[in-house]
Amino acid sequence: METIANKIDISLTTNSRISELEDGLNKFGRIFSDHMFVADFSDGEWSDARIIPYNDLSLSPATSAIHYGQSIFEGMKAYKNEEGETLLFRPKENIKRLNISAERMCMPDIPEDLFYDGLKQLLDIDKDWIPSAKDTSLYIRPFMFSTDSYIGVKPSDKYKFMIFTTPVGGYYTEPVKVKVETHYTRSANGGVGFAKAAGNYAASLYPAKLAQKEGYHQLIWTDAKEHKYIEESGTMNIIFVIGDKLITPSTSDSILDGITRDSVLILARDWGYNVEERKVSVDEVVEAAKSGNLKEAFGTGTAATIAQISLFNHKGFDYELPSIESREFSNQVSLYLQEIKRGKIQDTHGWIVKL
Ligand code: COI
Repeated sequence: METIANKIDISLTTNSRISELEDGLNKFGRIFSDHMFVADFSDGEWSDARIIPYNDLSLSPATSAIHYGQSIFEGMKAYKNEEGETLLFRPKENIKRLNISAERMCMPDIPEDLFYDGLKQLLDIDKDWIPSAKDTSLYIRPFMFSTDSYIGVKPSDKYKFMIFTTPVGGYYTEPVKVKVETHYTRSANGGVGFAKAAGNYAASLYPAKLAQKEGYHQLIWTDAKEHKYIEESGTMNIIFVIGDKLITPSTSDSILDGITRDSVLILARDWGYNVEERKVSVDEVVEAAKSGNLKEAFGTGTAATIAQISLFNHKGFDYELPSIESREFSNQVSLYLQEIKRGKIQDTHGWIVKL
């Protein structure tokens, strides 16, 4: 069947910037690969799918996304195996989540074949941008935003879906110190916290800046109503090992349903850990830290991977966590994920897609 994904126009750069790749590995997300994928939505359908040299966009100052924030995105990574083949980790989950975000933000669905074929062809063209050194990858940023030139408040009639890529090393370069936020709120019940909506990240910046001034890298968000229950941390989901249990807040409409989080919980269950997805109160974590029962705390995310938390602050008190070396589960799962994503161990879950 002839679909828009079958007809992706390709126009290649005559001026590759591949020499910038190494530089990109030391500065997360600042160096972009040579090409980008673009498709436009208007009159109820997607058209004009194309791969073109990475470049600035020309937009009307009245572009509705700029004013009213209909803007959503995904984060994925591509890796190379030892044979030089390109591997993706659970890409179907990203397509699914992008469309969940789209529905909540009143944006059109992105057909799976448009997303997938655009991504495949883009990665094929820019495959030399996929780094192979340890802890590096090609970060992929699919995103959609509204493009009506109209300043009345309504769902836009026009959108752009785009994908660009950026070679990266680690997002956090050291274990993170986090502060439990008990005043500001990232997202509330009935809101858009579960969506990967640009505005969620905007809302987090000011409270995070205040915490950074006090010497913390990020916040641990708590529920909007009582600031009593833990939600997620900065750009990551959060998981604790308390005693012999792995404990994490259940996903809800105020928490992002992280793909790394889900993968970690599946592995933990496979390995016989006792996993609890439920409400996690700040008091429970503070008590566990005081009694020495809090063995591990870490964030999970595509960009952050497994980010160890070395300390958390609550109401003015710093609680130091056990040494990173002592953390049996998170070190094991971090290594396992690194290896499976690079095709070094057998993929028994069907998570890896080879392009
Ligand atoms: C990701 O982990 O891919 C994210 O989207 C976090 C990002 C805001 C850096």
